[in-house]
Amino acid sequence: MAVFPAPGTWSDFVVVPADLAVPVPDGVSDETAALMLVNPLTLCMLYRGVEEALRGQAGPVLQTAAGSSVGRLVSAAAVRHDLQLINLVRSTSGAEKVRTLYPSQPVIATCDDDWREQVRLHAGERDVQVVLDCVGGAMTQDLAELLADGGTLISYGHPGSGTTSLEALPLMARALTVRGMSILRWMSRTPGERAQDVAFAQDLAQNTPDLLEVAASYDLADFKPAIEHARRPAKSGTVLLTTPRTADSGHGAAR
Ligand SMILES: NC(=O)c1ccc[n+]([C@@H]2O[C@H](COP(=O)([O-])OP(=O)(O)OC[C@H]3O[C@@H](n4cnc5c(N)ncnc54)[C@H](OP(=O)(O)O)[C@@H]3O)[C@@H](O)[C@H]2O)c1
Repeated sequence: MAVFPAPGTWSDFVVVPADLAVPVPDGVSDETAALMLVNPLTLCMLYRGVEEALRGQAGPVLQTAAGSSVGRLVSAAAVRHDLQLINLVRSTSGAEKVRTLYPSQPVIATCDDDWREQVRLHAGERDVQVVLDCVGGAMTQDLAELLADGGTLISYGHPGSGTTSLEALPLMARALTVRGMSILRWMSRTPGERAQDVAFAQDLAQNTPDLLEVAASYDLADFKPAIEHARRPAKSGTVLLTTPRTADSGHGAAR
């Protein structure tokens, strides 16, 4: 079983409401099962947000931190749904990695002085309609400037440095929308909608486990090097904390 959302999953046993316990499909490894729910459900929420903002158009959508685990899921979804996606990463080496994975999508490194011009070139006449941003901070103003009038910035994370006040964004004159998105709101969806999202996550884990990449697994006692690894620039995949297998606990992976 995989569970989300439920506190206390870094333990051998946890009690959760039955409707939050999701069967792990046959053939799915413990590591993939540990990643099966959070990021795929995040993708479901982000994708719905993008669809609502695009109102039937096919893009262009610009995403930051495209090399992240969530970013790669967004890229895969864009390929599947024929969505015009422009990927932003912070380094040249990161750009190369994403380009290898998704050669049909433009990848731009923000360490290039002309990254904004590169985005405009790829967006073409329609300009960027939606920004999916999990970097925030000082970059938010640049991203807002790249949006078409009436466009939407969806904010879902903030590892970037500094703050950006809403006053710094041209919200009124250019009719921009800034919208927050959090997996913590997922429970407010109807049971039917949640069941659909969970079925999507199970299918993804069973049929495309490569999209749920594990960077490394660390024993829970080694949480310090695990945190260091999770913060390492250009890491690929998600760092897992594990508890040792015991005869009683059976499966030991926990995120
Ligand atoms: N709102 C929600 O419900 C929700 C749910 C899940 C995740 N998130 C957020 O989504 C983001 C991605 O999560 P993940 O698990 O996929 O992360 P991840 O695989 O650990 O990747 C982190 C990404 O952030 C980039 N990054 C870190 N600091 C940065 C900075 N200062 N400037 C630019 N890029 C930076 C990294 O770039 P490099 O590759 O160059 O190192 C990497 O691509 C995180 O911000 C997380 O908090 C939000």
